Amino acid sequence: MSKPSKNSSFRGNVLPIAMIGAALLLQAGAALAESDGEAIYRFYCYQCHGYAGDAQTLASTSLSPPPRDFTSVSADEFPIERIVETVLEGREGTGMVSFRDVLNERDADDIQAYVLDAANSQWEEAQLPGWWRGFKAWVLDLVAVVFAFFLG
Ligand code: HEC
Repeated sequence: MSKPSKNSSFRGNVLPIAMIGAALLLQAGAALAESDGEAIYRFYCYQCHGYAGDAQTLASTSLSPPPRDFTSVSADEFPIERIVETVLEGREGTGMVSFRDVLNERDADDIQAYVLDAANSQWEEAQLPGWWRGFKAWVLDLVAVVFAFFLG
């Protein structure tokens, strides 16, 4: 007759527990390592460059030169490296300081992706014919009115 090992039930539980623990740790690590361009932009950059990147901010009125309107440039005019470099090095002679102390290259990369994305979508929108933009705005207004009507 084999003697039941004292540890058998304990050992049976260790593996699943260790696996769950490892999974949780991995998840926490991933969450920490994840840096979100939009969140960073909204923390460090919007004061001058505006939420939409259009530089319509109070701060911009007292800066010389003022921050440029990201939404009025195309991706070709505004290369990725320029954004990353600016975030890390700043722009000499302007209010744009280096964010090297608080942000790393990866953050800069994430911001760059966000800024370009936001700027480009607005730039593309601006290239649409005026009548189409007007029509879209009109439809959205109409939808809003209909919603307001039905929701009371
Ligand atoms: C104190 C106000 C201020 C803050 C905060 C600020 N900027 Fe700037 N930024 C400026 C000014 C002023 C300029 C120079 C004019 C220009 O080129 O837009 C500039 C320039 C830039 C440029 C270069 C544009 C070009 O033409 O090459 C980029 C990219 C940029 N900022 C991104 C950022 C990002 C990303 C953040 C946040 C991490 C940030 N800025 C925070 C004021 C600011």
